[in-house]
Amino acid sequence: MRKVQLGCSELQVPAVAVGFWRLNYGYDKKYVEDFVRTAMENGANFFDHADIYGRGEAESLFSEAIGMNDSLREKMIIQSKCGIVPNKMFDFSKKHILESVDGSLKRLKTNYLDILLLHRPDTLMEPEEICEAFDILKSSGKVRNFGVSNQNIWQIEYFRANLNVPIVSNQMQLSIVHCPMIQSGLNVNMFNDSSIERGAGIIEYCRLNKITLQAWSPFQYGLGGGTYMDNPDYPGVNAKLSELAEKYGVSKTTVAMSWILSHPAKMQAISGSLKKERMLNCLKAADVNLSREDWYALYMSNNNILP
Ligand SMILES: NC(=O)c1ccc[n+]([C@@H]2O[C@H](COP(=O)([O-])OP(=O)(O)OC[C@H]3O[C@@H](n4cnc5c(N)ncnc54)[C@H](OP(=O)(O)O)[C@@H]3O)[C@@H](O)[C@H]2O)c1
Repeated sequence: MRKVQLGCSELQVPAVAVGFWRLNYGYDKKYVEDFVRTAMENGANFFDHADIYGRGEAESLFSEAIGMNDSLREKMIIQSKCGIVPNKMFDFSKKHILESVDGSLKRLKTNYLDILLLHRPDTLMEPEEICEAFDILKSSGKVRNFGVSNQNIWQIEYFRANLNVPIVSNQMQLSIVHCPMIQSGLNVNMFNDSSIERGAGIIEYCRLNKITLQAWSPFQYGLGGGTYMDNPDYPGVNAKLSELAEKYGVSKTTVAMSWILSHPAKMQAISGSLKKERMLNCLKAADVNLSREDWYALYMSNNNILP
């Protein structure tokens, strides 16, 4: 699979990552093992976790199902996240960050995370605490690279001014039907709603500063509301996806994913389906490059406007 450079790190990562937000003990271990092995056999060895996914079940089940060992571990790139805490909301304190990483390492049965992300902005954060936590995690070898998620330009600037380690990635929601960071960039200085700055400039900022954008929920509308795929509420998108699927000789799923990956910012997209066939169709998107006119036609198919 095509790879992308992960920010300023040494890591070359597959353009499509596999995410485990939806994994929990409701899934059979054999099913999960087969799913993970199939992903790896097809070049998808980047796995996106979080301490909060299934309240720890996703990380535990993942490592138990595959029988995590040193040989498997070195073939994988594992990312996890911290900072969302049930009943507290957000916590970027030193204590929480260190405890969260220890918990993830234990559940994943590994000595290190390739990347740790701060999951969602914590307005009560003290940057000195994050800096101390990251320094300890880096020097102990528990975490090799650091990134953020759902952060805007100024939040990342603030981290960069206060941390001793580089920010290598910013994970943001992005799909054909959820693309405010693209809409506001295309509608600068207009009176329409799309010109409202919701993430405006984050793509250019990340490109400028060698921070890889990781696109989450490539098939969802809203925050976990459901998918727009084959959804009658999204007739325009589905019609255009069908047309392009035929033109490029791939599935609609592959085309929807390739809309993200064809953007020249060299983003990494995170596939969240736990169905093998859908996951494989997502991986194929790394090798499809939509033409400029098809990319804009798909953007417009959801009534996303241009000036
Ligand atoms: N940083 C953050 O704040 C954040 C937030 C959310 C997610 N994430 C990460 O991003 C990953 C992906 O997010 P997501 O799970 O919302 O991803 P997604 O790939 O947009 O959605 C996958 C869901 O859509 C369903 N689906 C229905 N039709 C589909 C089709 N034709 N193609 C693909 N999926 C279809 C899947 O069902 P089936 O399983 O039945 O196929 C699955 O429930 C997560 O696993 C997590 O790692 C990060």
